Amino acid sequence: MARPKIALIGAGQIGGTLAHLVALKELGDVVLFDIADGTPQGKALDIAEAGPAGPFDATLKGTTDYADIAGADVCIVTAGVPRKPGMSRDDLLGINLKVMKSVGEGIAANAPNAFVICITNPLDAMVWALREFSGLPHEKVCGMAGVLDSARFRHFLATEFEVSMKDVTAFVLGGHGDTMVPLTRYSTVAGIPLPDLVDMGWTTQEKMDAIVQRTRDGGAEIVGLLGNGSAFYAPATSAIEMAESYLKDQKRVLPCAAYVEGAYGLDGFYVGVPTVIGKGGIERVVNIKLSKDEQAMFDKSVDAVKGLVKACKEIDGSLA
Ligand code: APR
Repeated sequence: MARPKIALIGAGQIGGTLAHLVALKELGDVVLFDIADGTPQGKALDIAEAGPAGPFDATLKGTTDYADIAGADVCIVTAGVPRKPGMSRDDLLGINLKVMKSVGEGIAANAPNAFVICITNPLDAMVWALREFSGLPHEKVCGMAGVLDSARFRHFLATEFEVSMKDVTAFVLGGHGDTMVPLTRYSTVAGIPLPDLVDMGWTTQEKMDAIVQRTRDGGAEIVGLLGNGSAFYAPATSAIEMAESYLKDQKRVLPCAAYVEGAYGLDGFYVGVPTVIGKGGIERVVNIKLSKDEQAMFDKSVDAVKGLVKACKEIDGSLA
């Protein structure tokens, strides 16, 4: 049986890391696409040359021609520009919206049956725009944010509690930005919810609040440290978890930016929610009951994303 074909649109920091992970995990063959001639070819060859030592079997091709992504099973989109220190994700909107137009058209023309995972920021607005430009079914286009945000949350919690990250689960809702909603009562250590762990004296409410805030600011913390780009190892690893669930029909329950119609009081909108990812793409949106406070935080986050979508429509009239 032929190996799955995985197209990576954007061969920068995240794109290169994605290609390496796909190869190491032997998830399929890779096509790295970028407009910067030489970069995708160079990265593809470098990773292919790691194969014998890996060892792994994967074919890698770098290209500047969309025709090479033809028939891809999965497309992961990182094309665009990342943040610089002092910039918010929203500052990227104008430039990256134009990039989404060309990428959406390239995918529609060459890989219309692919499962598409967008990583380009500002995430929730870009995944909406990419879906609009590509015209692909909503369940086949989603955005990677929740897996990363909850991974950051889990990392901080595991460090605080001095337990394995594997035993920490976390739940994050809403847009990928300052308004994201980490849900502490659905976040656990081996099934014990965080509020109970506070009661048990494992930590304090103040420390929990600080961890929630650090999670919200997680991307900016890395941007500040790197000084010349944004996070790439954790974002790439998170997107691979989603791609693997699709390719292997694992039906993992993963938070991601998905099209929500009917749940959470939304009527056709992309925002971060828990989903089930399987061979059908986003097979289900898990509609949990929110408390009044949580719903208010979620609504605030949705409003922030709505503002960005409105800005997209103002920039590009074809989206209105
Ligand atoms: N088509 C294809 N590739 C493009 C296009 C385009 N129209 N425009 C830019 N690119 C490429 C760049 O040439 C570059 O190689 O996208 C790549 C982006 O790589 P980096 O600058 O290294 O950015 P990266 O850290 O990978 O982040 C990419 O993901 O998390 C988000 O905020 C981040 O929006 C940013 C994106």
